[in-house]
Amino acid sequence: MCGIIGYVGRRPATPILIEGLRRLEYRGYDSTGIALVKRGNIAVTKSAGRLSVMEQMADMKAPQTTGIGHTRWATHGAPTDVNAHPHLDSTGRIAVIHNGQFDNDRALRTYLERQGIKCKSETDTEVLAQLINKFYQGDLEQAVRQALSEVSGAYAIAVVCSEEPDVVVAARKGGPLLIGVGKGEHLVASDPAAVLAHTSQVVYMSDGEMARITSDHVSMTTLDAIPVTREVEEVEWSLDEIELGGYEHFMLKEIMEQPGALENCLRGRIHAKDGSVHLGGLVDCTRELTRAKRFILTGCGTAWHAALVGEYLFEELIRTPTETEYASELRYRNPVIDDGTVVIAVSQSGETADTLAALVEAKSRGALTLGVVNAVGSSIARETDAGVFLHVGPEIGVASTKAFTAQVAVLAMMACYLGRRKHLSPSSAMQFIASLARIPQQVSEILGNADEARAVAQKYIEFENWLYLGRGYNYPVALEGALKLKEISYIHAEGLPAAEMKHGPIALIHEGMPVVVIATAGTQYDRILNNIAQVRARGGSVIAIATEGDREIARMAEHVLYVPDTIESLQPLLTVIPLQLIAYHAAVLRGCNVDKPRNLAKSVTVE
Ligand code: AGP
Ligand code: GLU
Repeated sequence: MCGIIGYVGRRPATPILIEGLRRLEYRGYDSTGIALVKRGNIAVTKSAGRLSVMEQMADMKAPQTTGIGHTRWATHGAPTDVNAHPHLDSTGRIAVIHNGQFDNDRALRTYLERQGIKCKSETDTEVLAQLINKFYQGDLEQAVRQALSEVSGAYAIAVVCSEEPDVVVAARKGGPLLIGVGKGEHLVASDPAAVLAHTSQVVYMSDGEMARITSDHVSMTTLDAIPVTREVEEVEWSLDEIELGGYEHFMLKEIMEQPGALENCLRGRIHAKDGSVHLGGLVDCTRELTRAKRFILTGCGTAWHAALVGEYLFEELIRTPTETEYASELRYRNPVIDDGTVVIAVSQSGETADTLAALVEAKSRGALTLGVVNAVGSSIARETDAGVFLHVGPEIGVASTKAFTAQVAVLAMMACYLGRRKHLSPSSAMQFIASLARIPQQVSEILGNADEARAVAQKYIEFENWLYLGRGYNYPVALEGALKLKEISYIHAEGLPAAEMKHGPIALIHEGMPVVVIATAGTQYDRILNNIAQVRARGGSVIAIATEGDREIARMAEHVLYVPDTIESLQPLLTVIPLQLIAYHAAVLRGCNVDKPRNLAKSVTVE
């Protein structure tokens, strides 16, 4: 699901829409388009492919001051010019952009066809445009409301009409949408990044709400026409944070900014002097949390990997049963959830459809729900009972990097916070927090030796299959390292708990095959050396991630990338860094589009 931008004000809309779409590009898309409105006419420019293609076709000097723009990530119909948004109804007076998908579009299409209305595109979105036109009797808001009552599915939409050229109507149900409040102008967007160049004042729309937006006024209602009032909020991100600032790619920028990002995440929350943790977002539910009988951590992709580290942290520090489950499984599996269960949704964007749905399901079964989320104002942040924000600024690169380390850091703080209220001794908490406080500096030391990861990527760049092995706290890191490599460099990689290798995957190992092994000091060290020996005996090339000062490992591995020493439970915060760098360099060396990998969207807001 992709991007929405809309503008209504006094300035020519085209440059504002194009600039907004550029800010949304990072989310991944396959086609783009804009619609400009004046009385009696809607002009649409759209095409499949990159934004630059559409931009060349657009008239940057067009005088219209109302318009909508879209980046599409196809769900219904191929990414073609015809299927690109905006979609007009057959009379050409209504234009719609839509993120998400309608489930009953086929039935509605047949219904429209019976009435002689034929759609031009294969999209579900065009069906809505036709319905709105059918219901239109001089009031766009009313017509949109009526049409939406006929569709089922998930959406964020923006609609314009040539008979009301100064109005944009927006609505959301299952997709993010916000209104940017400027002077004598308003914007509507699916992501704050798209409005930030014009205003940092926003109104986040909630699910099931509609807005009628003009240059001077916004009125909001529920889909059932009950008026609602929402506060104007300040977006805490700055424009610098959504720009490259001299880096070649957002992914590299975000890897390199991890020391600062982690400092922001920890600031004011941990106190090394006495080992205490202060998490404002949990104050109101601390009693309930300490009485919890079970924690379920849920998320997708990288967030799920961070959650898995969280499971280990929670069980070690809080000693309360904890399990981690893919949100996509949790939501459909009829899980055992009761009021002693706390469900924690981990998500950078706060908009991932599966995670949101799992959360809603858990809530309906009486669980207390928490969020570990980066995007303030996002659906998951709003849906949860309480939570802790990451505070690491926007993550633009599709490959999640700084969000992973911050998610682990937040889960570590939560584990210590609740652990202290249960079994964790003051001295253990002090040691834990002192180690956590050192992490940002240690990450920056690793980043100082970033060239070594590049050399490793270079040496093995021709191999199409890599293995990543880890044990204990570093097992989720092995999964994360493999995901990073495959998603941006398209090299096949598998992450495994190291001992599992001998139960099957060992058959894959052949002469020279790169096997990344996380072999840091700790309780698992001797066992992981055995795994390294098993790989070597079959001709695999071992790239070890080891603790500084470990000379023994250098005799057993082809390459060693060192990380500073820390307690075992916090090692993921360090061991993941070289793996992010290896993946980044492999993608660059292979000429891949690092920030916008093929087939991927930054936030997956469809099922
Ligand atoms: C990570 O690199 C991915 N692109 C992806 O796995 C991501 O972590 C996942 O889609 C979850 O996103 P969220 O954190 O925004 O919920
Ligand atoms: N379902 C719509 C389509 O396929 C919108 C997809 C999107 O979110 O971009 O065109």
